[in-house]
Formats: sequence, C-alpha cells, structure tokens
Amino acid sequence: MLLPSLLLLPLSAVAAPTLQQTPFAITGSPIPGVNWDAFSNHTLIPLNDGNFVPSPAFGVGSVWKGQNVTELVLSALQSGYRHLDNSPFYGNEQFVGDAVRASGIPRENLYITTKFDHFNDDDVEVEFQKSLDKLGVAYIDLLLIHFPFVAAHDPAGVWASFESLHSRNLVRSIGVSNYDVKSLKALLALPDRTVTPVINQIKYHPYVQLQQGAVIELADEEGIRTAAYSTLTPLTSETGGAVDKVLTKIGEEEGITEGQVILDWVKSQGIAVVTTSGNPDHQREQLAVFGKDFPSLSKAEVKELEKAGQKHELKKGKPDH
Ligand SMILES: NC(=O)c1ccc[n+]([C@@H]2O[C@H](COP(=O)([O-])OP(=O)(O)OC[C@H]3O[C@@H](n4cnc5c(N)ncnc54)[C@H](OP(=O)(O)O)[C@@H]3O)[C@@H](O)[C@H]2O)c1
Repeated sequence: MLLPSLLLLPLSAVAAPTLQQTPFAITGSPIPGVNWDAFSNHTLIPLNDGNFVPSPAFGVGSVWKGQNVTELVLSALQSGYRHLDNSPFYGNEQFVGDAVRASGIPRENLYITTKFDHFNDDDVEVEFQKSLDKLGVAYIDLLLIHFPFVAAHDPAGVWASFESLHSRNLVRSIGVSNYDVKSLKALLALPDRTVTPVINQIKYHPYVQLQQGAVIELADEEGIRTAAYSTLTPLTSETGGAVDKVLTKIGEEEGITEGQVILDWVKSQGIAVVTTSGNPDHQREQLAVFGKDFPSLSKAEVKELEKAGQKHELKKGKPDH
C-alpha cells in the first residue's frame, strides 16, 4: 500500500524548507500554493482546473536520458528556469532531485512535472512514489500519462489513479502526453471520469502543424492546453528545410535569434513550451522569449513561418496521422 509508506518519507526526501513546515498532504490538506512571483520570467498559462502552467519548462529527456543531469539542472535554474520536465523513463529523476536540493530554491518557487511510464510494469501509485522519492519532493505540480500505450493495459484504471492522486492533493494538475485524436477522445469518453486533463504534451514545430492540427483543435474545444516539445527541430535534426530562410529573415529584422523566432511562434499560438539546452547562453535566450520585454513576432511574421513550415511538411508527404 502506498499511503503508509508516504507518511514515512524521510525529511531529507521531502526536502524544501517551507514544505518541512507544512504537514504532508496525504489526508487531504491542500498542496501549498505556488509562489507565482518566482515565475516572473515565464509565461503563466491558465489551465481548466484553475491552476497555471509556467512556460517554458526545462526538459531532461531527449539528449539527456540516463545522464547525470545535476550540473545541467543547476545551470538551468541559475539561468532562471523554474519549471522542470521529468519522467521515470529519462532515468535521471534522482539527479534532478540532487540539483533541486543543492539549489536551495524553496519548493513553492518551483513547478515540477513528471510522467507515468508504466516502467517495469509499476502501477501508478508505485511509480509515483518512486518519482517523489527520487525527486525529493512531497508533491508534483503536473503529472502526465507519457504515451497512450503506457495506459493501454487499463486506461480507465490509470486515469482513476491519476484522479485519486489529484483528489488527495499529491498532484496539483493531471494531464496526458502524445495523445492523438483517437486516444484523447477515448480518455474523454471514460464513463467514470471526473477530471479533464489540463494538458496534452506533444511534438510540435513548424514542420508538424498539419499532422498535429486535429488533436490541437480537439484539445482547444475541450479546454485542454497543448504543450510543445522538440520545437527547435528545424535548427537541430531537420535543418535545410523551407523555414530556414524565414527564420533568418525574421531574426535579422527583429534582432533576435532563430531559436527565439521559433519559440515565439509557438508561444503566439497559446501553446506551452518544453525545451532544453546544455548551453547557458541558449538557456537565457530561450527564457527571454517568455519575459515581459520580448519583441513578439507580428501577425504577418507568424503567418509567414506557418506557411513555410506547412510547405515543407507537404513536400515530405506528411501528414501521417
Ligand atoms: N513527452 C514526450 O514524449 C517528450 C518527447 C521528447 C521531449 N520531451 C521533453 O522536451 C524536452 C525538449 O525536447 P527536445 O530536446 O526534443 O527539444 P528542442 O527544444 O527542440 O531541442 C533542444 C535542443 O536544441 C538545441 N538548441 C537550443 N537552442 C538552440 C539554438 N538557438 N540553436 C540551435 N540549437 C539550439 C539544444 O542544444 P544545445 O545544448 O547545444 O543548446 C538542445 O539539445 C526534453 O528534454 C523532454 O523533457 C518530451
């Protein structure tokens, strides 16, 4: 059973100074509020459960899977990131926990996302407990089902477990990731569902607009926010495409970098961003897009990038639903 073991969490695992003064929330006392002032260099996106998600998030997946990311996360926190995107599958939650502890940043000044992976066939409660232990925190701000297939053994049971963690105030908000139209509709149609996911975290960049359009539209209709990962793909694994010239042109006109052009393009659509970088200059550049003084793209520039991305996508024979 999970409940007694949660009560026995060592103080070192609960970590953040302010949380140590707060009774652990297992009996239903509210999760401590987020100190939104600490997120002034992020964009706060309202969610359907009354909470917010700070954008951008700093991710420790992709190139960082299985690595000791303690120094990396400390550098991201030093650059000003306050939202950390994790998953058991990334195999580095304990290193993120080390960084959070070493940073001395109070827990309520951080927003922590992790995911359910059904890793080693662990059920939701067991895997969630392991994430809490490794990250060294008493609650998670946002918990996502990482892929539809990790819940395929029991979609209703997995979502019910998410709702249970949510109702016990162990998780501030619950959502999904990599859901397409079919899997999102199936989740929304669960007969005993009482909570709507707040977010669907999906791959999104200028070259996948058409293939992701339908699920983003469905999410919008249902009040579910979209969060985008791999947004910088035109600069990393898909260089040489139709948006390159547009990125350079807009970047020069606005006096911003090509990476910032893409991030602002995603931001302009009301989509949250999950990105990453091992380069502190890139980290600060990324965050600057979400600060108050950033010169946002004009509507014409947003449209220009949209069109260039769609052209390339069609040329490659996509979309592939
Ligand atoms: N839910 C899911 O299934 C899922 C899947 C994939 C990823 N994610 C999450 O999203 C996070 C980001 O994913 P991603 O790595 O695919 O995203 P990304 O944001 O598209 O790419 C990040 C890469 O872009 C490079 N970069 C940053 N700024 C740049 C610039 N100005 N010019 C050129 N390159 C630049 C970085 O390299 P440098 O270090 O050199 O800056 C970094 O390796 C992951 O860590 C993970 O947390 C989630």
